[in-house]
Amino acid sequence: MSNHEFEEYLDTSDEWIVSHTGIRYRHIAAEDQAASDLATEAAKKALHRAEIEAQELDMILLATATPDFVGFPATACIVQENLGANKAAAMDMVAGCTGFIYGLETAKGFISSGFAKKVLLIGSEVLSRHIDWQDRNTCVLFGDGAGAAVICAEEESEERGVLYTYIRSRGWGARLLERTSGGSRFPYKEGVSDPRDLLLRMDGRKVYNFAVSSLVETIEHLLEYHSLNVEEIKYIIPHQANLRIIEAAAKRKKIPLDKFYVNIQEFANTSAATIPIALAELQGKHMLKEGDLLMAIGFGAGLTYGGNLIRW
Ligand code: ACO
Repeated sequence: MSNHEFEEYLDTSDEWIVSHTGIRYRHIAAEDQAASDLATEAAKKALHRAEIEAQELDMILLATATPDFVGFPATACIVQENLGANKAAAMDMVAGCTGFIYGLETAKGFISSGFAKKVLLIGSEVLSRHIDWQDRNTCVLFGDGAGAAVICAEEESEERGVLYTYIRSRGWGARLLERTSGGSRFPYKEGVSDPRDLLLRMDGRKVYNFAVSSLVETIEHLLEYHSLNVEEIKYIIPHQANLRIIEAAAKRKKIPLDKFYVNIQEFANTSAATIPIALAELQGKHMLKEGDLLMAIGFGAGLTYGGNLIRW
């Protein structure tokens, strides 16, 4: 879906959206597609690339803010059934747009504890169902998508994989980005609740400030912890929420913009799916070599944030 399609019914323009966000397109799921459908597609591709059968999986983790059903059943369980991963445990993770970052450390934890050898981690979102399509402040920002990774135990895991994770949350900002109604705090009551309270609402300016500061803090922490220079990092893969957030962080840390992998122009903000989609693109374009150091960094609802230092 292009920016021009908004011009037809909203007081907005392609020029405004591109100059304020960097977004040109977003992908929208078909009416009959839910988060589990996109997740299943992504999972099948990841399993194929990893040359692993679904039956070999010990665990399925699915990061999403837009599950098929509210609360239960977990979307991960639906994906498990779709894949025939009959030996796997399955659960969803709710950490907003930082879901994949939290998920990588969770997968690593299950592997390190000896519980799992093969974990499928998916980020999948159908945000288009939860957007107020009449609110120009938010509807232009989001898209639908999914990405997946298979994380396996390896002998030489000291040198490869998720080397280090820094994750935090600033719960004081929990209500800056929310869907107010439909949960146990404000159950939806017909005739009483405003139907728009079922949709995503955001204080964009405050979330913007949080996003820039959390991106900068995470870059600093990941570099300092391993005494790294930014030159040693092949790519920083930031959450794709707004190009200006990435530019502001790059400027503050004096890091060249081309160190950051950016695909927001094509996909907009797909929440927990932005990082695995970017990783899959980098791999698909043969832009990664074994041994490359990567930083994946997320920030979002919660307000959660953090990053993983990854040796590819
Ligand atoms: N088209 C035209 N005008 C618009 C649009 C639009 N699509 N959206 C907002 N405007 C207007 C506003 O109404 C406002 O008009 P006013 O001054 O007459 O009231 C004007 O533009 C400026 O509004 P600002 O809020 O100052 O615009 P800003 O430059 O800050 O950009 C934006 C807004 C893009 C939302 C920005 O604040 C932002 O990116 N925030 C962070 C969003 C984010 O990162 N969210 C995701 C993180 S969490 C997650 O991923 C789930």
